[in-house]
Amino acid sequence: MSDAAPRTSRSLTRMLALKDFEIAAKRLLPRTIFGYVSGGVEDNQSLEENRTAFAEHSLVPRVLIDVSKRSQTVTLFGRTYDSPFGIAPMGLSALSAYRGDIAMACAARATNVPMILSGSSLIPLEDVIAAAPGTWFQAYLPGDAERIDALLDRVAAANFRTLVLTVDIPVYGNRENNIRNGFSTPLRPSLRLAMDGATHPRWLLGTFLQTLARHGMPHFENSFAERGAPVLSPNVMRDFNGRDHLNWRHFDQIRRRWKGELILKGVLSVADALIARDRGADGVIVSNHGGRQLDGALSPLRVLPEIAAALGTFPVMMDGGVRRGTDVVKALSLGAKFVFVGRPFAYAATVGGQAGVEHAVRLLREEVDRDMALLGVGACGELGPDLLFRAARPPIPAAAIPPRVNGSTVCGPAIAPSA
Ligand code: FNR
Repeated sequence: MSDAAPRTSRSLTRMLALKDFEIAAKRLLPRTIFGYVSGGVEDNQSLEENRTAFAEHSLVPRVLIDVSKRSQTVTLFGRTYDSPFGIAPMGLSALSAYRGDIAMACAARATNVPMILSGSSLIPLEDVIAAAPGTWFQAYLPGDAERIDALLDRVAAANFRTLVLTVDIPVYGNRENNIRNGFSTPLRPSLRLAMDGATHPRWLLGTFLQTLARHGMPHFENSFAERGAPVLSPNVMRDFNGRDHLNWRHFDQIRRRWKGELILKGVLSVADALIARDRGADGVIVSNHGGRQLDGALSPLRVLPEIAAALGTFPVMMDGGVRRGTDVVKALSLGAKFVFVGRPFAYAATVGGQAGVEHAVRLLREEVDRDMALLGVGACGELGPDLLFRAARPPIPAAAIPPRVNGSTVCGPAIAPSA
């Protein structure tokens, strides 16, 4: 169990869909923090596209198929998960929920799905994996070779086995919404911030002050091998230490040093996905960072079929805009082996800590189960483009998607744990 503050399960029974957590979290969180989690970038084109892309596909159910033994398990990198979705990495989760990263990691472990700890998190990675072995780690590349090696060595020493490298941040996206909402990293103390906290007492007492009292001022713990800046400070600057020079040679350096699975997150082009595979990545996450980096970057769902077709059985995963079981089955039908969900799980942690996230996982799991039955599908590997109808564009030719296999999807070779 995490040390998340207990919440009554009564409040969770009112959460019937992932969307309900967002509505509840919006009430509980200061505007500054809710804006940071919910926001996109510039005009929110990519953020909105991520949802629109799902709506453009309709499902074509098959009937009179025995689905009584259906299973949504997926085997990924030698581990079998109970659902084809996991929790995407999200920075500062311990600001939107008490010990948020641990709450999410423990919930993921309890429900047997993967959770990716963000490199911009506020709890030392060693503490998170101790609470929830099997958690994956996401890193942003520190600016220079020595710091990259030092961070990798720290992550390996903590016994993480799966490393996700996020590569869509050569510079930060233009998050005007953060400025409008008074958000920055570190947060700058101000009257506005104080008022925002004071008018959200459950967050102030249950998350922020409880964190200060029990764990001290949160710092960016996992951006580098050493501790980073505090999350609240009038003058400290965060060390973003230029990343715009990073290139595939840095990826090669990491591949040589990291012995576990290495996954590239933030890929949106077929060409980059092929380079990643050819240079030794074990998987890619097709992602536009939840619409938080390049506004106008295409929705991952749109390019998924092409990338999946080009990479064959290589593990292609995606995230961005997944909110319903129907979204999960649509993404899998278009070639994803696995999907990740971001914001809804952060909101679930705000609303109910670990129990809230477990509830959210179960809601999505039940939806996937029901949708598979209604579609006439017995296993994730049976989901394919023949179950989709796309009104706006010609249907995707079946030949463009990797062949379906019976039983659970199996992707990627098992790799020995890193030291
Ligand atoms: C993110 N995302 C993200 N990605 C990453 O690789 N490292 C990070 O630290 C963060 N931080 C982060 C914070 C918050 C508050 C959000 C909402 C998102 C992006 C995240 O991993 C994922 O790509 C998107 O959230 C997926 O989109 P949905 O599910 O939120 O629509």
